Amino acid sequence: MILVTGGAGFIGANFVLDWLRTSDEPVLNLDALTYAGNLENLASVAGDARHVFVQGDICDRALLDRLLAEHQPRAIVHFAAESHVDRSIHGPGDFVRTNVTGTFTLLEAARGYWMGLDGERKVGFRFHHVSTDEVYGSLGPNDPAFTETHAYAPNSPYSASKAASDHLVRAWFHTYGLPVTTSNCSNNYGPYHFPEKLIPLMIANALAGKALPVYGDGRQVRDWLYVSDHCSAIRTVLAKGTPGEVYNVGGWNEMPNIEIVQTLCALLDELKPDPQGSYARLITYVADRPGHDRRYAIDARKIERELGWRPAETFETGIRKTVVWYLANQDWVADVLSGAYREWVETNYAGRAV
Ligand code: NAD
Ligand code: TYD
Repeated sequence: MILVTGGAGFIGANFVLDWLRTSDEPVLNLDALTYAGNLENLASVAGDARHVFVQGDICDRALLDRLLAEHQPRAIVHFAAESHVDRSIHGPGDFVRTNVTGTFTLLEAARGYWMGLDGERKVGFRFHHVSTDEVYGSLGPNDPAFTETHAYAPNSPYSASKAASDHLVRAWFHTYGLPVTTSNCSNNYGPYHFPEKLIPLMIANALAGKALPVYGDGRQVRDWLYVSDHCSAIRTVLAKGTPGEVYNVGGWNEMPNIEIVQTLCALLDELKPDPQGSYARLITYVADRPGHDRRYAIDARKIERELGWRPAETFETGIRKTVVWYLANQDWVADVLSGAYREWVETNYAGRAV
């Protein structure tokens, strides 16, 4: 079996669901169920014996040792993290704890377990670390896209904590020989995306007739990848990647935020027209994010050249699927928009003058 951390979050849950659709190999899913973890994401595999869920913290070394000894996974895929830049600005401590100390604790537990393996099982073991393009910092408008050798220059508490975790993973390979791989991926979107992030927030707000808060001038650029393509990239690296290597993963789809929001409004106008007029009337420019990175872009040629991976979805197909999913899963959205979520909206948006 494989051990997945953070498999009740957005990407982790998509990964677990895709894994169980495409393979018979069981998954041990360790997730602390923070505000971002949601067992509803895994409801479709609730009765599946191949999915073993454990609620627990990656900082809990004793738990990690027990799970590894008991379940003897052949690989670890590490998603668990605090993942939202705006939350990292309001409360960076959780990011250092989970992303840095948690990754360190998991690496140490994995190293102890791996050293006890022998023969094929030791050679074949993999620790895959899921990271982000944000560790590379911000690009100018004409700079080439990030390659795997781009210097690290993280600018937010989130990206700094992910950069630290990447360095730990790298060091555990060079110093101890732990067979690690790392992927640095661009912005994901798709089903089960928590509505604190740009795309699901805009869909949820539009359907509720609320303002669509665009930070600053809305010209910040991100590269967007449909989540199932990220999952297939991770499966590819796990199967064919070389230990010690880093793979950048992206969708070849750079877009300014305002164009993302306009695209969502146009799709909603088509699929769920509002009698009061186009959803674009709700677009509202608000105060910018402090330290807001201007542009990210991923050069994903290495993973294509060496491992044969390319995204299956275009932005047009992926974003349509996403909007259709949100319209069909309004109950999921309603459950997620709980009291705690409303407090976050107050914390993040109340001080942003229009
Ligand atoms: P998410 O916030 O939706 O999910 C994170 C999951 O980790 C949640 O289920 C949460 O309960 C769990 N978790 C948090 N702290 C934990 C702890 N201490 N112990 C155990 N579980 C814990 O995040 P996501 O968007 O699914 O991102 C997953 C990974 O992918 C992260 O490492 C993130 O940095 C990386 N990533 C995300 C994106 C993106 O666009 N979302 C892009 C590139 C890389
Ligand atoms: P987000 O989804 O938080 O991802 P990240 O910060 O990791 O790239 O934000 C994507 C972009 O959208 C980012 O440039 C910030 C911007 N944004 C807004 O303009 N308004 C919002 O309400 C949010 C949440 C994000």
